[in-house]
Amino acid sequence: MAHLQSNLVRDGNGGQIKFPIFISQEDMDLIGKEFIVKDGDVFVVTYPRSGTTWTEQMVHLLVNKGEQGAQRLTDAVPWLETLPHRPGGMIEFLKTMPQRRLFTSHLPHVLMPPLGDTTAKVIYVARNPKDVATSTYFHNQSKLGYEGTWEEHFQEFLHGDVGFGPYFDHILPWWQASQKDERILFMKYEDMKHDHAGSVARIASFLDLQANPGLIDRVVALSSFKSMTSNETTNFDWIPQKADKPKHFRKGDIGDWRNHFTAEQSQQMDNVFMKKIKDSGLQFDFGDGVILP
Ligand code: A3P
Repeated sequence: MAHLQSNLVRDGNGGQIKFPIFISQEDMDLIGKEFIVKDGDVFVVTYPRSGTTWTEQMVHLLVNKGEQGAQRLTDAVPWLETLPHRPGGMIEFLKTMPQRRLFTSHLPHVLMPPLGDTTAKVIYVARNPKDVATSTYFHNQSKLGYEGTWEEHFQEFLHGDVGFGPYFDHILPWWQASQKDERILFMKYEDMKHDHAGSVARIASFLDLQANPGLIDRVVALSSFKSMTSNETTNFDWIPQKADKPKHFRKGDIGDWRNHFTAEQSQQMDNVFMKKIKDSGLQFDFGDGVILP
């Protein structure tokens, strides 16, 4: 079976969005009813495989003055959509969180709990869709039991038949929201790769955190691909995954899509990409100096 098992979740506008099988409508209803955004909350929001874990680590370290702590990253920066699955339930879990709460989320903008008039902030990270499609293929194989071919996955990705819905339906509303609300910082994976230290400084400044050069250096070192892969609180080795497939930290490069896309697939993606992104003002780096549109 090529397709991943999934749930359909109502988007609040009469439509439905495909979610991973382990996140249900009931989970989203509970979050919609009981999750209240508080002053100081920080949300790292992404379309999956866009640099979520990397950004979580930078935020976690900055907020904690460079101290990693003993908690796994998935506990220090819990995944909003899975809070209802925490032992004891979401409400009890939230009581155990520190004053400044950090969360991660893959929610489309339409389903995100409203920030209201709080001082909560969102760091949204986007990555070029070809690398996201590539990374998602290996992720779905290793962690979600996907057995389709690359071409099957590619078509599903292109048509939005994947977890958290179509790529563009995710990034474009978040991009637009970031233009109107200064509590939303829109970052790109590729910029973080090109200027890791500058990105750490940008996040620190956005979160109104004091970050001297020593702290920035430390955060850069502890959030490097190599360091996160060998650190047992960040490497995600505790997540069940197939031993013969790439791990959560796979390559961490810009442009690996070139090793997987055919010329025709690249063209098909460009056709969709250009149409969707044309008037948005957004640009992406696809590697090897190719910036589109
Ligand atoms: P690849 O599969 O292309 O290697 P997410 O955390 O959103 O699931 O994203 C995972 C992607 O981010 C993977 O991409 C992973 O290797 C990459 N990544 C994770 N940590 C990174 C880091 N510190 N530096 C660069 N890339 C990183």
